[in-house]
Amino acid sequence: MIEPAIIENFLGNLELKTAIDYYKKISNDAMHYDDARKRYILNDPVSHTILISKLELARKTFGSDTLLPTYAVYSRYVGPGSNLEKHKDDNACTYTLDLCLDQTIQWPIWVEDKEYILDSNQALAYYGNDQEHWRENLETSDTVSMIFLHYAEPDHWWFSNKEKRGKFTGRHNHHNTNSDTKSKRPFSVGKRVLVKTDSEIMEKVYLDENIYIIKNFIHPDDIDKVLIDFKDSENWEKNGVFI
Ligand SMILES: [Fe+2]
Repeated sequence: MIEPAIIENFLGNLELKTAIDYYKKISNDAMHYDDARKRYILNDPVSHTILISKLELARKTFGSDTLLPTYAVYSRYVGPGSNLEKHKDDNACTYTLDLCLDQTIQWPIWVEDKEYILDSNQALAYYGNDQEHWRENLETSDTVSMIFLHYAEPDHWWFSNKEKRGKFTGRHNHHNTNSDTKSKRPFSVGKRVLVKTDSEIMEKVYLDENIYIIKNFIHPDDIDKVLIDFKDSENWEKNGVFI
């Protein structure tokens, strides 16, 4: 176990700019609104691509040669009233990298009673399943955009128990250590974001557009992995989001 650590310059300059520009084009109403925490959330190919492309960095950071990507989520907190209850994750979040994409205020995140302040393009590495993490109430009308990147060892149930994985779709799976207000949110993100028509062809086009956007900064093999993951993903087809 390592202490939580801040990783500087997480994305390259082009990566960062591309990712910020990409998410700016996605309006709040195209995402799922997490009313309890006052944030908009999204499971999408760009965050998934970043997840995959940072595999080696994650392995180095956590000192594991075997960890694998599980899922990624983009999250846009829009205050006032945004918050994150004290909790441990109850999903495939053994290893977590919380990337601050951009923000209009520095809003501390706490891990195991220690405060961390992130700037744009800094990521906080910690153990989402084992370490309590939270944020205090955001009292101002500010915006903080994050990408949560999660990894786990190959023997994690995520990789073997697809049924359980499916059950987690669309939920924020927390062990809430402050209260029993465990969130129950129906999933509704992916379809609206993936495409605004029922046409299968359009869905593919939209997906390819996403891949096109990000192929400026990742290896072609990684693009293929993303396409394969999402094309074959039951959860993607079901508009699944993992939070
Ligand atoms: Fe969490």
